[in-house]
Amino acid sequence: FFQAVASPPSSNFLLLGPSGAGKTAFTTLLEAKSSPASNKSHTTHTSQQSTLATVTLPPTVPTASNRYRSVNDPSLKEAIRNPIRYRVRDTPGHGKLRVSQGLAELSTMSQSKDIKNKLRGVLFMVDTAALVDETTLRDTATYLHDVLLVLQKRAKNGSSSKRTTEIPVLVAANKQDLFTALPPGSVREKLEAEIERIRKSKNKGLLDAADTGLEDEEEILANDEEETFTFKLLEFETGIKVEVVGGAVKGDSEENFGSGVRRWEEWVGMCL
Ligand code: GTP
Repeated sequence: FFQAVASPPSSNFLLLGPSGAGKTAFTTLLEAKSSPASNKSHTTHTSQQSTLATVTLPPTVPTASNRYRSVNDPSLKEAIRNPIRYRVRDTPGHGKLRVSQGLAELSTMSQSKDIKNKLRGVLFMVDTAALVDETTLRDTATYLHDVLLVLQKRAKNGSSSKRTTEIPVLVAANKQDLFTALPPGSVREKLEAEIERIRKSKNKGLLDAADTGLEDEEEILANDEEETFTFKLLEFETGIKVEVVGGAVKGDSEENFGSGVRRWEEWVGMCL
């Protein structure tokens, strides 16, 4: 009896986002889907430390290299026998741990020269039912702003001769099962508007600092302060792509194509 030994996964994804967004629930679900036999149970209390999970992509989820594959393609059989594995690093979302864990992890992973440990993408999870609250919105947008700024700095530091590929960001608009949830389009608008506010006040702070002669190397997200912030502007200015896609960790199932976490897995597939 021969069993194919899967090659070690070499693609990493970083899971960021505020506390309570559903990051641990998502990681646990991916693990359960990857090995239905094992009954690993993660407690979904507030995480204090980041964890690394190795998970598999469902064989029917296309990847960038096989996106035009038909259902009769022999490579689909191969994918079922030997599914693509990737790693997800789940980080704690609590405000006090963001800088030391989430953002620190992002800096390290995104700078890594090791091709075997490439960071392929960032999943930034948000609770779409909680965003109606002003404080939560501000907190979430601040975190996302800081994440995007780390990626912008990386993009700028990459030598122009050897084009660095920018790390894409998925805003996973979670908890779409709740009837109080904001739809993904309005999540995008709210986040953009809030980031614009953060950017404006930061720019004003920098100008004030310049008046007092203080040097500051801080930069503004998406550079162009004249234009209103949108994710499109960010992409135009820096090459960093941000997509907002709805889903729900609760209610994910094989029959539930198009809902659950399927569309986030499809985004992962396109990064591979
Ligand atoms: P930290 O570890 O503090 O950073 O939080 P987290 O992002 O890991 O959140 P966690 O996975 O602990 O989820 C928080 C709560 O949201 C839990 O009670 C989950 O059951 C719940 N939750 C997660 N996903 C969904 C969803 O899609 N729908 C609903 N209704 N609840 C969800």
